[in-house]
Parts: sequence; structure tokens; C-alpha cells
Amino acid sequence: MAANWKMHKTVAETREFFTALTLPAARACAVVVAPPYLAIPAAVEAARGRDIAIAGQNLYWESKGAFTGEISGPMLAAAGCGYVIIGHSERRQYFGETDATVNRRLVAALAANLTPIVCVGETLPEREAGQVEAVLRRQFTGGFEGLDATAAQRCVLAYEPVWAIGTGKVATPEQAQQAQAFLRACVQERFGAELAMGMSILYGGSVKPDNVKSLMAQPDVDGGLVGGASLDPVAFAALVAGF
Ligand code: PGA
Repeated sequence: MAANWKMHKTVAETREFFTALTLPAARACAVVVAPPYLAIPAAVEAARGRDIAIAGQNLYWESKGAFTGEISGPMLAAAGCGYVIIGHSERRQYFGETDATVNRRLVAALAANLTPIVCVGETLPEREAGQVEAVLRRQFTGGFEGLDATAAQRCVLAYEPVWAIGTGKVATPEQAQQAQAFLRACVQERFGAELAMGMSILYGGSVKPDNVKSLMAQPDVDGGLVGGASLDPVAFAALVAGF
């Protein structure tokens, strides 16, 4: 269950979140929190000894250099991150992310020993035009270009239909299942059945405590990538408990 805080929470608010967060002792899923860059050290500190991994929300593909405003994989790893989100639809929509840049970031994340959470998903016009599978195939193929099985098995995928993100309009469990089964079939076609079965495919888009169970009950939904509901420690704990 991964929390994507996006551009929310200061350092002080991050500490408050972790102080208020009470997770079930016996958990059925891994827990990941992706705060804004500045709050990563505070999150790492607060999460210590609690079996909560911290993630970056993005990274640049060079490890260092004259790239004003960017953060690299080795920097995230050195700060204590274990994961990084790559290719979120907001990055694609507002910051010019393409399948080719997703691929470069993915290679860089793996080189820095981070677990990439690679986001794919269609827009509403694409869904209405019957292009869901074509879009998912293109984003998966482009994003994973040149990766071998050893690299691919270290990745997590997230299906995030753009029309469901931050809109309160959640995909039905059947829609999520259908898209995620297709994604797993793409993974299988490229890397074989065993790797495909072992890959975690998360669903993201208006996951809330009241819909988490029906989504997670789908055979190809292995977890959630959660924006809005992850900002509240009580709601996030309910999502982890509801897995
Ligand atoms: P949401 O965001 O839960 O607020 O819809 C999900 C995401 O963008 O990862």
C-alpha cells in the first residue's frame, strides 16, 4: 500500500502524520510512503523500526551534474529511500514525461538500488475511444525498453487510469481487474509467466477506505497507490488494514 503525497506536507506536517499513524501489527502488505523531497529525511527518521519504506516521487536519470532543480537516484538512496515512483500521470501531463524518459528514470532507479513503481494508465478520451489496451501496451513496452528479466523482476507496476485520479471517480473493481490482467499478460509476453505472476501490480485512482476491499479482492490487483486518502493517518491506516 503506497502513499503518494504529491505536493503536500511540510517537514512538521510529516512528523505529525507519522506520530498519528497507527498501523495494524500484523499486516498483509508492504507499506510505502512517498513524501515531497524536502520531507524525506523526516519521514525516514519517523518510519525507522516501523517497517514502513520511504519513496521518492520522481528522480532524474543522471546521478549528479549541472541539472538545476533535479534529484538523482543515489541521492534518494542515500537519504534512506527504498522506492521511487516513476511516470506518474501528473508528471506525464504537466512536466513532459514520455515513455522514453520513464525508461531512462527506470534504468537509473534500478542502478541506484531503488524499487521503481512505474505508473501507466489511460485518459478518459482514450478509454472512450477503446484504446485502453493499446495505451497500456505502449506505455509498458516503452517504459521497459531494453530491460532484462533480472531488472524487470525488481519493478512494481501501477495501473492508474487518469480519469480516476483525484476525481473521486474510482474504477470499478471489474475495470481495474480487466486492465491489470491485460498488463500482467503484457509482462508475461515479454518476460515469461513466472516473472509476471511475481510482479506486484498496484491500482491507483480514488482508492478510499470504503472501496479498498473490493479493489484488492481482484486477482490482479496486488496493492494500491493512493493520493488523497493517504494524507490522513487514520484513512491511510484503514487502507493498510483493509488490504
Ligand atoms: P488519488 O491519487 O488517490 O488522489 O486519486 C492517486 C495517485 O495519483 O497516485
